[in-house]
Amino acid sequence: MKVLVINGPNLNMLGIREPGVYGNGSYNDLVDLIRRAAEEEGGDADFFQSNHEGALVDAIQQAYGVYDGIILNPGAYTHTSIAILDALKAVSLPAVEVHISDVSKREPFRQISYAGMACEHRIAGQGIQGYRQAVLYLKEKYATRL
Ligand code: DQA
Repeated sequence: MKVLVINGPNLNMLGIREPGVYGNGSYNDLVDLIRRAAEEEGGDADFFQSNHEGALVDAIQQAYGVYDGIILNPGAYTHTSIAILDALKAVSLPAVEVHISDVSKREPFRQISYAGMACEHRIAGQGIQGYRQAVLYLKEKYATRL
């Protein structure tokens, strides 16, 4: 199983950015954690992070035919980007939406998720460990594919 982990704007600032909300772990800690989880499950993970919406769309499009699934935290673009939603629909890969914080308990503007409309599963509020759960979800899905 080959997964692409896509992180959107400001997730490169993990560890520095609002530690009370997003924790003390850095982006590199996040990458290490996911890489280990994927290896434990006999899979492989590649990583992409960008602060630019179009670059995230490009990464989703380029996943087509290469990856078995996508783990996606679009950051603030979660709540605004129809382009990311459309890209996910275009490639139609199993996708899991991850949020480090519990967006359901935050500001009203964080209550809509466009990307989530094309994701089959959502994990939020579990800190960076949520990405591990996303790997396990996709592994299960991959193991039971037809
Ligand atoms: C986030 C939640 C978003 O609302 C926010 O804009 C982020 C991070 C999270 O992981 O909790 O950048 O996606």
